[in-house]
Amino acid sequence: MTTTLLATRGLTRRFGGLTAVSSVDLDVGAGEIVGMIGPNGAGKSTLFNMIAGALVPTSGSIELDGVRVDGLAPHAIAARGVMRTFQHNRPFAGMSVVENVMIGMQARPQSSLLDIIAGTRAAARFETESQARARELIDFVGLGDWIGAEVTTLSFGQGRLLEIARALAGSPRLIMLDEPAAGLTAAECDRVAAIVREIAGRGVAVLVIEHDMRFLMPLAERVAVLNFGQLIATGTPAQVQAHPQVVEAYLGDLGALADA
Ligand SMILES: Nc1ncnc2c1ncn2[C@@H]1O[C@H](COP(=O)(O)OP(=O)(O)OP(=O)(O)O)[C@@H](O)[C@H]1O
Ligand SMILES: [Mg+2]
Repeated sequence: MTTTLLATRGLTRRFGGLTAVSSVDLDVGAGEIVGMIGPNGAGKSTLFNMIAGALVPTSGSIELDGVRVDGLAPHAIAARGVMRTFQHNRPFAGMSVVENVMIGMQARPQSSLLDIIAGTRAAARFETESQARARELIDFVGLGDWIGAEVTTLSFGQGRLLEIARALAGSPRLIMLDEPAAGLTAAECDRVAAIVREIAGRGVAVLVIEHDMRFLMPLAERVAVLNFGQLIATGTPAQVQAHPQVVEAYLGDLGALADA
């Protein structure tokens, strides 16, 4: 049994009269790959935004390692090892791939700010080590040949992989990927799946939102299903695909479940 890293209890977010996320209890263990599915507008991204601190919950709690983090600012949550990618790519235009990845490192600095300000040898060493680590991550996601490329010259799929590299640069304990496979080629999907397995194998908790069942079902150890903000099922991929409420939520889109 893995240790629980993330635990939400009664997590709720309202937008005016709309309850986008309704009393969600979700656990993710260290090294676990948890998939999150649900129809458009089910509240998946809103849940991520709350966990990342981008949205303040209306009610409920979020714990990391048993410590409450709800209500903390995004940078404070990132500093505790929570990294995420967005549903849409967010490259820093005008900068290279390696520079984009190094920006991700600032989310969770490994060297003290004092060292950097002091401009000491420690800071110089930090800079060199950062570059080496960025290079490693860029190779890891398969962008080694584009390390110096300006980011807007990348293909869509390469941009997606860069987002993952930048999130990994923050040394996550929990990484949340919002539709990482959307718009990717089959080869790029395989690459993302391999990346996810590798980082989970290193003990990182992975929470993946995805509509592509063929990508998600073989990858996730557990799947959580949101519908109209409510967690209607959690279980193994086989369990949720056979769950009557899940099948009902996907009525009209049964092919999506059956294809997996
Ligand atoms: N900032 C906001 N203000 C008002 N309503 C919002 C806001 N963000 C999300 N919503 C609403 O909350 C609901 C859940 O949206 P959310 O983006 O979390 O869904 P989702 O499951 O990620 O959908 P998709 O699969 O389309 O990405 C939707 O009805 C959406 O319109
Ligand atoms: Mg979304």
